[in-house]
Amino acid sequence: MTTVAPGTGTHAPSVGTAHTRVEGRDKVTGAARYAGEVPFAGLAYGWLVLSTVARGRIRALDTDPVLAMPGVLAVLDHRNAPRVDTDYTGLLGTPPDPTCAVFQHDRVPHLGWPVALVVAETSEQAREAAETLVVHYEQEPHDIDFTGGRPDAYPVDGHMPGVTEKGDLDAALVSSAVVVDAEYTTPEEHHNPMEPHAATARWDGGRLEVIDSNQGATWVVGELANLFSLDPASVRVRSEHVGGGFGSKGVRAHQVAAVMAATVLQRPVRVVMTRRQMFSLAGYRSPTAQRVRLGADADGRLRALEHRSVSVTSTVHEFVEPSAGVARVMYDADAHHTANRVVRLDVPTPTWMRAPGEAPGSFALEAALDELAEKCGIDPIELRLRNEPDKGPVSGLPFAGRNLAACFREGARRFGWADRDPRPGLRRDGRWLLGTGTAAASFPSGAAPSTASATAHPDGTFTVRISAADIGTGARTALTLVAADALRVSVERVRVRIGDSDFGPAMIAGGSMGTRSWSWAVTAAAGELRERLALDTDMPPEGITVRSDTTAAIGALTPAERHSFGAQFAEVAVDTATGEVRVRRMLGVFAAGRIVNPLTARNQLRGGMIWGISMALHEEAVRDRASGGHVGADLAGYHVATHADVPRVEADWIDDADPADPVGIKGIGEIGIVGAAAAVANAVWHATGVRHRGLPIRPDRVL
Ligand code: MOS
Repeated sequence: MTTVAPGTGTHAPSVGTAHTRVEGRDKVTGAARYAGEVPFAGLAYGWLVLSTVARGRIRALDTDPVLAMPGVLAVLDHRNAPRVDTDYTGLLGTPPDPTCAVFQHDRVPHLGWPVALVVAETSEQAREAAETLVVHYEQEPHDIDFTGGRPDAYPVDGHMPGVTEKGDLDAALVSSAVVVDAEYTTPEEHHNPMEPHAATARWDGGRLEVIDSNQGATWVVGELANLFSLDPASVRVRSEHVGGGFGSKGVRAHQVAAVMAATVLQRPVRVVMTRRQMFSLAGYRSPTAQRVRLGADADGRLRALEHRSVSVTSTVHEFVEPSAGVARVMYDADAHHTANRVVRLDVPTPTWMRAPGEAPGSFALEAALDELAEKCGIDPIELRLRNEPDKGPVSGLPFAGRNLAACFREGARRFGWADRDPRPGLRRDGRWLLGTGTAAASFPSGAAPSTASATAHPDGTFTVRISAADIGTGARTALTLVAADALRVSVERVRVRIGDSDFGPAMIAGGSMGTRSWSWAVTAAAGELRERLALDTDMPPEGITVRSDTTAAIGALTPAERHSFGAQFAEVAVDTATGEVRVRRMLGVFAAGRIVNPLTARNQLRGGMIWGISMALHEEAVRDRASGGHVGADLAGYHVATHADVPRVEADWIDDADPADPVGIKGIGEIGIVGAAAAVANAVWHATGVRHRGLPIRPDRVL
């Protein structure tokens, strides 16, 4: 355990040595309870009924036969469900997704829209009744056809501008010695965590309590308080263990339906999504169609850069997959244009999915850079080094640390890049063609205000409380190491409690900002407690508690381009008989701030890289034009990389402590997937000489 004081600028390379998850034993022995497992006396079970048409109106619901079935307690639908208030701006600066505000009207905007909740004494009875419920629709024609060329695509200003334009693009392209103009597509992708979305709601002495699987209890409290017009102090959300989130676990139909049913029945009600329901209720990554135009001098220096992306949103809510945003950070040019546009279709609203924007955006941009390197006859790494910007290409702000070049140099050395023959289609191993590829990665580094408390107990132990969410990343363990570091005591003396909104407001596990935001608050509370203990000699029986709030400190951060960066490397083998692409090895080297707990950090980065393999080669949700729904909406039909697809994936980092952060953290939540698919695609080109600009690179497309 290192005992370096925060804020001195002399950070140890990492916080803590490799530490297994503090709750690991609970998880593998089953002692850890997930939201769908917590026992309650008198618990009733709700089962969601989803629409089977992609557009139209509910004409009738035959609820009487269902209400007569064994154990059935209620059927909630648009005629009898409690009204909710959707006229507010939520924590994330947007109005609520109406998909969460269930049963408010008879309109059906997409297939899989919640139309009713059947509540019964047992889960089996609820399911049986839900499957028996007959719903009559007035069906209308639907439109789910996504193409990049749709004339109805429009730019949206959200948390980032839809369009940025600097310089005369056409003139810069005309005067360029080398031009790349290519279109890239990525399909609809789903995050589907292992633990399905689940919530149990109950009224307890005038307070609403929800046991839930989410990425931030503060967030869920805020949304439920708004929707049900409640004082936030009268809502408590607990989420001690969460089996994966990836952006999908915010406020969704199940929590709202559970609260409605608990209110109507005045008893605890649990609603769990099925795996199939998750495909329409849990959000997903929009398909994208991206056009990248690059113009460069013969030496590879960019004169023109255009990155335009079109993605999908629903007819009820605006969500933009901001794929062109990555170009605003990565490369500069005299003429620099980016645009994120959306088209409204009769599909569910997409949402954040790990590295929203950067994941598909880096596929297009970094593949285009590879094409430019080929055309210029310049090594792809050298091309990127020649185009390292000295300030934010669009913002003009300085970079608060970039270190991308160092990642490439270290990665190239370890991967053995120097010996690479750049010519494609030359290397063979039996019937396999071999190739290597590289790509750059970046993801914003941010911090958001959080509160924490730290308590010193008379027995020499400490309890830290923060409403953080451990969605499987190892956040609880990371915060234990951070707290021990700040308290300068051994890890064994520290207990960190998370996942309870009563611990006070805190950042969500999202935007790669969780660990940094929470560590800031934990360090502040623990540091102040340590100072207090140095002064106070008398310890009261209840111990001494200190609280922190980082709102002012984070608000005082100077504006800068703050990001984590990385260099991805992949080696692939392409089967010339079957078209199968196999990744043989991957390496990612990241400049991502000071690393907390090297064991779980490496897992987090590798998980992202493996997801990049999956994105490159396997993942693709296919919609059936006739029904508007998915073909194979389950984990058999939706292919993901499994162990046999992932031979050797190494993730490492360079020293990159952020001086603006009390612990030196930048954030590693999402950067692992960024650039990974491009590195694989670039390696497939190097192996075969064929550019694949549409993902996934399936065997039938390779042949
Ligand atoms: Mo992440 S996509 O912000 O959970």
